[in-house]
Amino acid sequence: MSKTAILEYDGKKYEFPVIVGSENEPAIDINKLRDLTGAITLDPGYKNSGSCESKITFLDGEEGILRYRGYAIEDLAAKADFLEVAYLVIFGELPTKEVLAQFETDIRKYTLVNEEMKNIIDGFPKTAHPMGVLSSLTSALTAFNPKVVNVDNEKEMYEAVCKTMGKFLVIATWTYRKMMGYPLNYYDNTKGYVENFMRLMFELPTGPYAKNQVVIDALDKLFILHADHEQNCSTSTVRIVGSSHAGLFASISAGVSALWGPLHGGANQAVLEMLEDIQKDGGDADKYLAKAKDKEDPFRLMGFGHRVYKNFDPRAKIIKKAADEVLATLGVNDPILQIAKKLEESALVDEYFVSRKLYPNVDFYSGIIYRALGIPTEMFTVMFAIGRLPGWIAQWKEMRVNKEPIGRPRQIYTGYPLRDFVAMDKR
Ligand code: CMC
Repeated sequence: MSKTAILEYDGKKYEFPVIVGSENEPAIDINKLRDLTGAITLDPGYKNSGSCESKITFLDGEEGILRYRGYAIEDLAAKADFLEVAYLVIFGELPTKEVLAQFETDIRKYTLVNEEMKNIIDGFPKTAHPMGVLSSLTSALTAFNPKVVNVDNEKEMYEAVCKTMGKFLVIATWTYRKMMGYPLNYYDNTKGYVENFMRLMFELPTGPYAKNQVVIDALDKLFILHADHEQNCSTSTVRIVGSSHAGLFASISAGVSALWGPLHGGANQAVLEMLEDIQKDGGDADKYLAKAKDKEDPFRLMGFGHRVYKNFDPRAKIIKKAADEVLATLGVNDPILQIAKKLEESALVDEYFVSRKLYPNVDFYSGIIYRALGIPTEMFTVMFAIGRLPGWIAQWKEMRVNKEPIGRPRQIYTGYPLRDFVAMDKR
């Protein structure tokens, strides 16, 4: 028999259905709550509210589990490549060799970005943050691709996916080229997706670009680890913007803006800046640990804590190992790493952090590894966005295919009751 939940309110009892997910997560379905009782729920930050049912990603914060479409993140990071995982996340199944090859070929059809986009980039100052530029350029793609995709037409949806995967990577790297004053580069359709990322970023017209497979493999893994993370801030943004039937590029542009914040994807840049500040200030990690614990001090230890993971972040575990391997292979000896290690060791045994279940998250290590790979700090959050793109596309597609209603939360009004208008000369 299916479970129900009983609510007693204002002297009456109401019964609500309980929905159970495929991993036995219960949810009280309050769809009819306001109609029946006149009341709404209040849950700032949505700590207890599910916004949708989804088949894409399973995450258990207590157990530190992350799976895309049922596959463990550990397996995917070790055995698959980024485009394979992107296909899985977006379309639901692991691709065969042929399907994957076709997917890559189809993405390549869209890797040329309209030359007029360059006029738009020209308008930005060189000092603009790449995430702001990326959000604007993603939105600008709408102007060059005005046709709204019919989500119920599989062919159209597939083309929209390939187009987004192709063009987003190119414009993401253009934000860096703009910042550096380098000429904008073109995708090379004879090379792989992640290899192209490195080329697009660093190849200069003045000389050949030497490919480094260790760097490409590490980036591939990092992109996989970021590919989806269920209803986080940027993904919820993409879904809610898309719920008004705004297009895919417009919705993803909003997701980029949401990701930029230092409490979300912007944390990877903030971690590195924090480590540099500690270094400049003499390298005393304990001093900063004390600042993070001081309630009078707004400073937070960036890269620590997570809304959902209260045990450990499984992505952080994989990244930490990858960081150690990559740094050893590349022979990187960075003093910033010593500070990071000291912070991590001290926080993991500190009562404040232990009792609040604050562990290093994915952003704590990703910044360190990006730095070792030669990615500039301002680009760290853009890296996150490239990795998260398949997740945003998949969640947008699922929301539209499921015909979800427009996202429109309610509120509890706490402002003035009706007041008499006061004429200008009486104020
Ligand atoms: N440093 C010091 N104290 C912290 C930290 C931190 N990084 N994170 C949480 N706390 C404390 C917080 O002050 C509160 O203490 P108390 O109970 O005494 O008031 C308690 O821990 C619970 O924190 P919260 O802010 O209520 O937790 P939340 O679930 O709302 O926030 C978070 C989660 C990720 C926003 C937060 O932990 C944080 O700001 N971390 C630093 C930024 C960061 O690394 N973000 C990346 C998240 S992972 C990837 C991603 O989403 O992009």
